[in-house]
Amino acid sequence: MRRIAIITDDPGWHGKQLCLAFSERGYAAEYVSLTACKLQLTVTELPIVIPGFEQELPAAVFVRGVPGGSLEEVVFYLDVLHALKILGVPVYNDAGAIERSVDKGMTSFLLQHVGLPTAMTWVLRDRDAALAIAEQQLHEGHYLISKPLFGSQGEGIRRIEKTTDLLWLTSSRGIYYLQRFVECAGDGYSDVRVFVINGRAVAAMRRRGISWLNNVARGASCECIELEPDLAELAIAAVNALKMDYAGVDVIQDADGCYRIIEVNSVPAWKGLQSVCEINIAQHLVADLLGRYCVQEKLC
Ligand SMILES: Nc1ncnc2c1ncn2[C@@H]1O[C@H](COP(=O)(O)OP(=O)(O)O)[C@@H](O)[C@H]1O
Ligand SMILES: [Mg+2]
Repeated sequence: MRRIAIITDDPGWHGKQLCLAFSERGYAAEYVSLTACKLQLTVTELPIVIPGFEQELPAAVFVRGVPGGSLEEVVFYLDVLHALKILGVPVYNDAGAIERSVDKGMTSFLLQHVGLPTAMTWVLRDRDAALAIAEQQLHEGHYLISKPLFGSQGEGIRRIEKTTDLLWLTSSRGIYYLQRFVECAGDGYSDVRVFVINGRAVAAMRRRGISWLNNVARGASCECIELEPDLAELAIAAVNALKMDYAGVDVIQDADGCYRIIEVNSVPAWKGLQSVCEINIAQHLVADLLGRYCVQEKLC
């Protein structure tokens, strides 16, 4: 049986959904932690050792999670993913896509670079300069958001509303990522998550946060929405700009009605979205991966 590696340290619901979708197509999927992989550059053996795949590399790799760690650890994990791709193993999303999106600074740069609407953003090392930017934004009447460069699920995000908040303006391991707060249209707080697979927006939901933080992991509720063509096009353009096979795109509609892209997620969770949408997301992801990258599947 053809075998797939699902890269994760925490398989959970998503792991099960993927295993099921792979098995429906005749593939066995196994969970693998990048912490257990190694490069083995001898002459006679496979150059990458993946537990469970010592004899033969997987038919494809689905990346569900890259663990954090020291710079060396993270670089090593990405090296393994880069190396797999170089050896001809499809990696979904590949290491380049993960690098571009895990680093919020690079995501923001690339979105702005191709002319997509996002929020004003500053990424820098110098604390005094960061404070000066924040003071200027507050002075102009804007709130500011401070985010960890490598954060997810709303962790470590703060809103700066007044000059006294600047006392606890902290960097994320030395780097400040500051973004103008986008006031959203409508009542309360909400944003939109659009799920894009292979250049197609397949599902979307509105997330309503308990506060301005609209992550499902922070208690936001999910409601299915119709995908308007301009919203779909925007999300697809964002995913194209970051060269990803699939992604979860976070978009806020601002008080003037304009959509602004906040984040493009290359390892998105979809449990919340699955609870309100009709399509089976895991099946769509697996069909896309196998259909485009696995030769045997193409021949069927
Ligand atoms: N510039 C912003 N303006 C308003 N709300 C924001 C802004 N940036 C983030 N948020 C809110 O915080 C949430 C998490 O931010 P995001 O950049 O997506 O980081 P994470 O990777 O933690 O999900 C967003 O879904 C949104 O609700
Ligand atoms: Mg997000």
